[in-house]
Amino acid sequence: MFSNDIGIDLGTATTIIYVSGKGIVLREPSIVALDVRTNKVLAVGSDAYYMLGKTSDLIRVVRPLEEGVISDYEVTEEMLKHFFKKINPSKFFKPRVCVCVPSAITEVESRAVIDTVMSSGARNVFLIEEPVAAAIGVGIDISVPGGVAVLDVGGGTSDIAVLSLNGIVCKTSLKLAGNKFNSSIVRYIRGAYNILIGDNTADRIKREIGTVWPEGLELKEYEVKGRNLVTGLPQRITITNQELVETLASEAEHLIVALQSVMERTPPELVADIEQNGLIMTGGGAMLGGLDKLITSRIRIQARLAENPVDAVAIGTGMSFNYLGKLYDGFVTYTNYSNK
Ligand SMILES: Nc1ncnc2c1ncn2[C@@H]1O[C@H](COP(=O)(O)OP(=O)(O)OP(=O)(O)O)[C@@H](O)[C@H]1O
Ligand SMILES: [Mg+2]
Repeated sequence: MFSNDIGIDLGTATTIIYVSGKGIVLREPSIVALDVRTNKVLAVGSDAYYMLGKTSDLIRVVRPLEEGVISDYEVTEEMLKHFFKKINPSKFFKPRVCVCVPSAITEVESRAVIDTVMSSGARNVFLIEEPVAAAIGVGIDISVPGGVAVLDVGGGTSDIAVLSLNGIVCKTSLKLAGNKFNSSIVRYIRGAYNILIGDNTADRIKREIGTVWPEGLELKEYEVKGRNLVTGLPQRITITNQELVETLASEAEHLIVALQSVMERTPPELVADIEQNGLIMTGGGAMLGGLDKLITSRIRIQARLAENPVDAVAIGTGMSFNYLGKLYDGFVTYTNYSNK
């Protein structure tokens, strides 16, 4: 029997689905490949990921979410339908779905998420703000009056929130996350070597050797293949983690400033709690080398990576049905319509 409730982390980079009583059942890139002439979906998720940057003019590979929100509704709908079918082949089953969204989402954007998920086959849709889901997902009791600080760094957005007594006390969301770190690597290699690399290559470099913390750095090298912008020919170079620190750390500076501004707006009593409890980091982007150390040293609050940073938001989104009606903020609305 398939559970009635599912949580979806509809991420810019990855879509993760959690089913009550089962756990994570799907984790795939938020990517769709389409036939340009007919607009027919050719591949979705992991199958489409391998086509990125390698297709002819007849195939378009798209990421239907940008900076945490849906940029292409129809394609997102197709993607979700495909994922629903994959986790539950029954046409007749319509689940209750909770979806997490960036905390700075607008009314229009949240309406678009609700409509898209409804059209994909949900019975009811709820929305939860990403940092609240992250806190629930890492097992923090958000109902207590002690301050809890969460930083979720995804692919398109980073969300920061201070939570207490089932509510968000202070929050901010910025359009700076994993993708921006990738772009800064592309820019650095073009500037330093006159070599153009693709986003996927930059992403691999970041995961393998990217770091924002120079102290005690163990030297690592990475061989990069790209196109020389002068000769137009392919070229290989070897770069080190040391040379990337500056460019990545300057990007991370925006996160530090945002964290400082949230801390400044947090009531002193809660700051004292946070100093004791620390800042919990979730999201794939939070795994960037040395980010925890950089944050700890700059805001003087112990930052630590969650045990399962990539899945935390999806788990929290799925578990949030237990909080229905209890959250003061962070849980937007229960939709007015329902598919029968
Ligand atoms: N080991 C790693 N080091 C650095 N970055 C990483 C690592 N693993 C994954 N990432 C980055 O994490 C990002 C994706 O994170 P995540 O899956 O949490 O995003 P998302 O939830 O899809 O996006 P968003 O929440 O912004 O909509 C990508 O930019 C990816 O490069
Ligand atoms: Mg996310």
